[in-house]
Amino acid sequence: MASIRILGISGSLRRGSHNTSLLRAAARSLPPGVELELYDGLGDLPHYNEDLDHEPLPAAVARLRGAIAAADGLLIATPEYNGSIPGVLKNAVDWASRPFPDNAVKGKPVAVIGASTGLFGAVWAQAETRKALQIAGADVLEGEVPVGQAHVAFTSDGHLTEPEIQSALDELVGVLAARAGASSAAAALPETSAIAAPRAA
Ligand code: FNR
Repeated sequence: MASIRILGISGSLRRGSHNTSLLRAAARSLPPGVELELYDGLGDLPHYNEDLDHEPLPAAVARLRGAIAAADGLLIATPEYNGSIPGVLKNAVDWASRPFPDNAVKGKPVAVIGASTGLFGAVWAQAETRKALQIAGADVLEGEVPVGQAHVAFTSDGHLTEPEIQSALDELVGVLAARAGASSAAAALPETSAIAAPRAA
């Protein structure tokens, strides 16, 4: 059983999404002992509304927050819609960001990647997703993986065609796995062990 769990969130609800394909490609780059689970509940979330943000929470919100809390790290693949984050993904980040500051993403290692059919590979959407998650308190990795012309970026069996993009993905996913592993190990430590004094003989 894998001990490190990464939750993969695609910012596209589209069947056949290139961003979901990118997450599947990323799953193949993970080191042994690390697994990626694809989250499928973004489309069930209501629009963010503070009037709904109390117990009992809408089931889709409770599920999202629970899945994030249970993961050691997040990998988010975002398309770019009109130069920005798709509404469905921003909505999920908004739900995940509350209650602030003790929310499910607080201190959580997160990497953001993205694919678009334009030339630039959703770089604006990736930057804005990182910004929103930083403001929410996540431990957001610096790197990005822009996959431009996504309609021709994958082979029929889902592998990336460009070795440079595959290398960038391998590198970012490797850093995320290491950061998630460290975070998971720290969470497993008893609270006192980091400051325990050596025992007298
Ligand atoms: C797009 N697309 C797009 N692409 C881009 O590079 N820059 C952009 O600003 C936009 N804007 C945009 C708006 C809307 C409403 C749609 C539907 C699409 C194209 C987009 O990159 C393409 O549809 C991707 O394939 C979407 O990602 P998935 O669904 O394949 O993951």
